[in-house]
Order: sequence, then C-alpha cells, then structure tokens
Amino acid sequence: AGTTADDITAEEPPTLPTDRRTGCPFDPPAELTALSDEPMRRMRYADGHVGRLVTGHAAARAILADPRFSSRYELLHLPMPISGVSGELPPAPVGDIIGLDAPEHTRYRRLLTGKFTVRRMRRLTERVEQLTIECLDAMEQAGPAVDLVEAFAQPLPALMICELLGVPYTDRERFQSHVATLFDQTADAESKGEAHMALLQYLGELVLAKRAEPTDDLLSDLTTSDLTDEELAGIGGLLLAAGLDTTANMLALGTFALLSNPDQLDALRADPGLAEQTVEELLRYLSVADPLLRSALDDVEVEGQLIGAGETVTVSVQAANRDPRKFPDPDRLDIHRKATGHLAFGHGVHQCLGQQLARVEMTVALPALFARFPTLRLAAPPQEVPLRDHSNIYGVISLPVTWDKEQTH
Ligand code: HEM
Repeated sequence: AGTTADDITAEEPPTLPTDRRTGCPFDPPAELTALSDEPMRRMRYADGHVGRLVTGHAAARAILADPRFSSRYELLHLPMPISGVSGELPPAPVGDIIGLDAPEHTRYRRLLTGKFTVRRMRRLTERVEQLTIECLDAMEQAGPAVDLVEAFAQPLPALMICELLGVPYTDRERFQSHVATLFDQTADAESKGEAHMALLQYLGELVLAKRAEPTDDLLSDLTTSDLTDEELAGIGGLLLAAGLDTTANMLALGTFALLSNPDQLDALRADPGLAEQTVEELLRYLSVADPLLRSALDDVEVEGQLIGAGETVTVSVQAANRDPRKFPDPDRLDIHRKATGHLAFGHGVHQCLGQQLARVEMTVALPALFARFPTLRLAAPPQEVPLRDHSNIYGVISLPVTWDKEQTH
C-alpha cells in the first residue's frame, strides 16, 4: 500500500525548491536534484495543501499520460504563490486549452492539430531561414556588443509566430508587453487581468478583420471552423503568448549554455549535422517550461505510491529531465547523447502543440548564429547575467555578447 496525504503526522513535508541560482544557472535547485533517489514525495503547497512532488522521469511520464490526472485550473493548488494568489484558481478562460480536460480539450486540440499541416510547416522552415539571416544582419550592424535577447532571441520567434498566426509584427506594441505581464509571477492579479483583457481585445479585433478579409494564415483558417469569435481570440492569445516567450528563452539560454561549454560548441561547429541532436539536448538540459501541475481525479497508484483523489501533483520537468535512471550523467551537457524522451515539451494529450515550429527555429537559428560570429562570447562575467527567476518560463533577462568585427561570415 502507498501513502496518502492523511498519513502525514510526524514530518513536515517540504515546499517546492525554486531557486536555480544556488550553483550553475542551468542546473535545477540543488535541493531538487538531491531528491533523485526518491521519484515522488509529499510536498506542502502555498495554501497548506499537501500534495506530491514528482522528480522521477518514469513517474512524471506516467502521470502526464494518465487521464485520471486533470489539468483544470480550478482543481489545482499552487506550489508557490503567483501574483499574490496561493490557491483557488478560476477555471481556464475561453480558448486556454492548457487548462481543459477531455472532451472539451479534445475538440479544440483536434481542430488546431489539423492546422499545423506539413505544407505550413515546410513554408515556415523556409521563412525561419530567411528571417534568421535578416536578424543576424541587423545584429551585425548593431554591434559588436549587443544584448542577444533583444537583437536575436526575441525577434526571431516573434516574427515566426506572427507569420504563422497572421498577426502583423508591426502591431507588437499592442501585445508584447501584455504577454510579458501574463508570464510574470510578481505582477499583481489586477495588472494581469488588465493585460489579459488588452490581449483579448487586440485579438478580437484581428479575428473580425480576418473574418471580413481572410489571408493565408492560421487565424484566417480557423475562422472557417465553428469556433466563436471569443474562442478564436482566446486561442489566438494562447498561441501568441506560447510562441513569443518559450522559444525566445530557449534560444538565449541555449546560447549561454553553449558559450559556457566551449567543447560542446566546438563539436557543433565542427559538425552542423549535430544541430538537431544539440537542440534536443538543450531542451532536456534547460527545461525552461517548468513545473507542470495536475490534480488527481481518483485514487491512483503510481510507482507503488497511492496518490489520493484531490491531491495536486507538481511534475518537475527539470528534475525528471535530469533523472540519472533515464539520462546517465544527467548534469552534463552532451550534444552527442540521444536526449529523446525528455519531457521539455510535456507528454500526453497536452504535449506542446508548437514543438515542430520551436524545433525548426532552434535548429536553424543556433548554428547560423555561431557560424556568422565565430568569435561570439559573453560581454559580461557569467554570474552577472540576469536570470528570469519570477517567470513561468525560465531564461535570461538579457545576454550581453560581443565578437571581433573583422571575423564575421
Ligand atoms: C503546451 C513547452 C513552444 C504552443 C506546452 C507544454 C509544454 C510546452 C511543457 C505542456 C503544458 C502542460 O502539459 O501543461 C514549450 C517549449 C517551447 C514551446 C519548451 C519552446 C522551446 C511553443 C510554441 C507554440 C506553443 C512556439 C506555438 C506555436 C503550445 C500550446 C500548448 C503548449 C498551444 C497547449 C497544448 C494543449 O494543452 O493541448 N508547451 N512550448 N509552444 N504549447 Fe508549447
């Protein structure tokens, strides 16, 4: 028999360790890594709820694949307060499919999957290649010495998600700061509400424009479905937010990680054929979208432990992706390893819808960046690079880099 929350008497369960800066900026908090012998344990949540913390890869995968674990926000307890809120979340707003279960989730998901067509992805690959060159040209003009986040890591994914959705990039002042507020865990609930409203307002206007005059893009395509204007604006907002912030952080933090591991960077430079593998390894090693939360709808046994109905489970993607039983020598960035099976895009029915796009962006952009600037290096001591500690997506706030002007390709 397993343990349930009721069994807790003697020992106070710990809270979620979140500070990644205790050692290396790429590693999970040391307290989290120290739990690798124990794939699952009880954990105290922000509102006092006692649920679970999952750090083992097999247990994490099993939970994410199991429909008895719900994603509905209103059933979740938060591991740490977000924007001053520690419990009692409202249900997912219209169009936010991350917080839905089957069958509502299935309906939206099917509709969206059908729009990420091979043709559309192929065309996007060509655009990633062109836009990468344009961004690198602009960066070369602006430097040497630029903030890589501003010059490269942010604009490229933003341009791409705008192109996919059919959102004018020139409108970015109407959505970029709102998305940043939504991901900021220190922003108060009121500013978050306002940011969400403003984002929906913008997308609502855009949806009407697409209905009146469809263009060749995903949002226009979706107007031919039976989705309401409100659903379309909500889904558009989710895709835009997910597309803006995630890949940008992978590009910047990935560059920082490669610059900090020159042997790995040299290996990639020597063999650009390693690009795809490098991207998978960086996804595993950095696990920027973390943690994932689920709520048990029933009593469920996982790896010999009984999780009680109503318990919130925190799946630590960063810990699972460093589980030595799955990835030997897990704290080593090793671009020669086969990192497939990592959980950086989640797993199960909610597995990232944009993963193909994100992979293409990273596989094209990272080698192109290092090829253009063979002498690329940090322009500040590594310990001074500001990290995103208070965001749903981990990364760097800025990354000062420089290069030798006469040596660009
Ligand atoms: C879902 C990570 C890029 C759109 C997810 C989930 C993760 C994730 C972990 C699962 C959430 C859960 O199970 O609760 C990432 C990472 C990215 C990335 C690390 C970049 C490297 C993108 C992009 C888009 C996108 C570029 C937009 C095109 C989505 C959507 C979902 C999702 C719509 C929700 C899917 C569902 O609930 O069915 N992503 N993502 N993501 N992602 Fe991504």
